[in-house]
Amino acid sequence: MALGLITTGASGHAEEVSIGVYSGRHYNTDQKLYQQFTAKTGIQVKLLEAKDDSLIERLRQEGTNTAADVLVLVDAARLERASSLDLLQPARSAALLRSVPLNLRDSKGRWVGLTRRVRVVLVNPALVKAASIRTYGDLANPALKGKLCLRDRKSVYNQSLVASQMILRGDAQAQRWVKAMTANVSQPYFSSDIPLIRALASGQCGVGLVNTYYLARLLNGESGAADRALARKLQVVFPNPAHVNISGAGITRHAKNPQAALKLIEFLASPVGGKGYAEANHEYPLKGYGDDPILKGMGHFKADGLSAEQLGSRNRAAVKLMEANGWL
Ligand SMILES: [Fe+2]
Repeated sequence: MALGLITTGASGHAEEVSIGVYSGRHYNTDQKLYQQFTAKTGIQVKLLEAKDDSLIERLRQEGTNTAADVLVLVDAARLERASSLDLLQPARSAALLRSVPLNLRDSKGRWVGLTRRVRVVLVNPALVKAASIRTYGDLANPALKGKLCLRDRKSVYNQSLVASQMILRGDAQAQRWVKAMTANVSQPYFSSDIPLIRALASGQCGVGLVNTYYLARLLNGESGAADRALARKLQVVFPNPAHVNISGAGITRHAKNPQAALKLIEFLASPVGGKGYAEANHEYPLKGYGDDPILKGMGHFKADGLSAEQLGSRNRAAVKLMEANGWL
């Protein structure tokens, strides 16, 4: 994806404060939120959007010269990676302690979650009974042989899901699960969630794993009537407990304006800012289920309660386990 630089307000006044935001999110409505923040605080936001991993690399290379004060990334494992590379600095903030649940922030204060995303089982009821699946473990059932569509091992979403199962069930059981589940896969593996949803709806397979916001986008007609009709054929199963991941942000190690950066993060984590940030991409806010009518239609889930930090710390082990057990 091309880099896009957007500024929230007209500059010109010498006393104006501005901050640089590098963001792995890319939703038009995010920009409206940054504009709201500028209107409220007078702090201008210079936004650079690019893929998460290239932003991490860019920050590393820029070192002390970086224009970024805030780094926004998608997925716990990436936030952990950025902090382990010493690209983020700790912040102390009573507002963040109030807004962000303990398990959705770094214990050292280097990043906080801003939205929650849930990876669910999606079923084509013409091929697989939704009632036959209650947990991620059920995807290993040999009755699903040839009926399972999966995104590939490179997907950080799948890596975090596997990390969650390693933490909850232990490595040995998680390994057996991945091995049996990958034996059910209808190949080829997918490189993104949207084509996987289309494959499910067209009957290429009967069951798959996706983040709810991808289905929500299709149900909302964001990619046209044909996709909406496909999405309507599918049924969401929230595994119990459900794997919850985050998008989140931290102040960069070499921020020129860390106080203004903290103000932006506090705004995005607040109930008002957080609502807009979540709804931009049909994600769940930090607390509760939010007001997105499409998500509401999917029902409620019980989160597994794991910490995002734990997910990040098991990322490498998860990738190894996937690699050794047939997840292409
Ligand atoms: Fe995504």
